[in-house]
Amino acid sequence: MKIAILGFGTVGSGVYDIITNQTSPLLANIKVAKILIRKGKEKKLPIMVDDITDIVNDPEIALVVESMGGLHPAYEYIKLALTHGKHVVTANKAVLARNIAEFEALAKENGVFLSFEASTAGGIPWIASVEKARRIDAVSRFYGILNGTTNYILDSMDEREEDFADALAKAQELGYAEADPSADIDGVDVKNKVVISCAIAFNSVVDIDSFPCFGIRNIDKRDIAYFKRENRIVKLIGEASRFGDKYEAFVMPNAFTRDAMEATVRRNLNIVTLCGSTIGELKFYGQGAGKFPTANAVIQDILDIFSEKTEYTIDVKRKIDYDDTQSKNNYVLRTDRALTNPLFRAVIPFEGLYYHHADGLTIREMRGLAEQAGEADKRFFIIKQADF
Ligand SMILES: NC(=O)c1ccc[n+]([C@@H]2O[C@H](COP(=O)([O-])OP(=O)(O)OC[C@H]3O[C@@H](n4cnc5c(N)ncnc54)[C@H](OP(=O)(O)O)[C@@H]3O)[C@@H](O)[C@H]2O)c1
Repeated sequence: MKIAILGFGTVGSGVYDIITNQTSPLLANIKVAKILIRKGKEKKLPIMVDDITDIVNDPEIALVVESMGGLHPAYEYIKLALTHGKHVVTANKAVLARNIAEFEALAKENGVFLSFEASTAGGIPWIASVEKARRIDAVSRFYGILNGTTNYILDSMDEREEDFADALAKAQELGYAEADPSADIDGVDVKNKVVISCAIAFNSVVDIDSFPCFGIRNIDKRDIAYFKRENRIVKLIGEASRFGDKYEAFVMPNAFTRDAMEATVRRNLNIVTLCGSTIGELKFYGQGAGKFPTANAVIQDILDIFSEKTEYTIDVKRKIDYDDTQSKNNYVLRTDRALTNPLFRAVIPFEGLYYHHADGLTIREMRGLAEQAGEADKRFFIIKQADF
């Protein structure tokens, strides 16, 4: 079976290395026939091309791995591959989260598959496991640490009492964080993964713009110290729950008690949990990124497609509505000045900052408070008291 790889960076080269090193006899029938690189770049391998039409018009290529990242031209190239009857395997959560319904519909129309295990939780077999759980159970909820970069930063701040800027710089030095870390620290990367996980868990494509996303850009080492006093540790969490034909989702820092399993997830590791009606709670832990773990997930998808184990698992026409009044949680809002609002149970000053505790709020009420905080202090920080 011949495949092509679009983009020869961390993930693309990892896929190429594993396939060409033939670590498993199952890979013997897979051949990387073409690799797309940018125009003008040196073609270091004879199979490198710089024109997508060389790939989509090649009748021998059955499957295309998209590992370029970004929205464009990934969007156009995935569509081109699907309409030319090629299966597509992608690690690109950004383009998927915005276009998954269109891609899925196009794949079905053209009798090919779109698979994306690597896009969410990297090397952890998360998508496949949710698909499997869903064969028997209604998945009512999932949540987890889905971004290794922010977990590394939060872990460093907690362990070494580092400032956010120092922890971020270290993450960049180690290659965990990009030069522009916005997608990670503002929670956008996790948001993309929540949309993709919802599609599988709830069998429905949810609107990425419907639900809130708070990141860790404004976290201060005093916040870490404040929650340490309460025997808690901060983690960035993506989560979603389904209530019949309604769902709720959000991305937000959570303060976990130190005996929670999430509290023990160190460095850049990930953990993600699903809750099913008969299976109960299942946790998946491991490397959510990295060249070989991610490439491994891509190749698992390739093997499943070529051995005809893949199925269409998303009903793109099924709609579930976002409803931010379903669950109630306890939140803490930190600003540089004391605020007043009847929803606050307590306002606690700590090292020049103010921690406003509000209990039993819906997401809608929490968003209202966050707006109030943002008007008073642009660098406000909001966190949920995790009670999973
Ligand atoms: N790295 C991970 O651990 C990981 C984990 C899970 C998912 N992912 C996802 O996988 C995707 C790839 O990530 P990565 O880390 O491998 O990124 P990367 O190292 O930056 O590699 C991307 C490669 O694609 C090339 N490229 C970009 N646009 C192109 C175009 N128009 N034509 C041809 N080549 C193009 C880039 O070339 P230039 O160098 O010339 O720009 C680069 O070689 C992203 O969507 C990412 O979110 C990554």
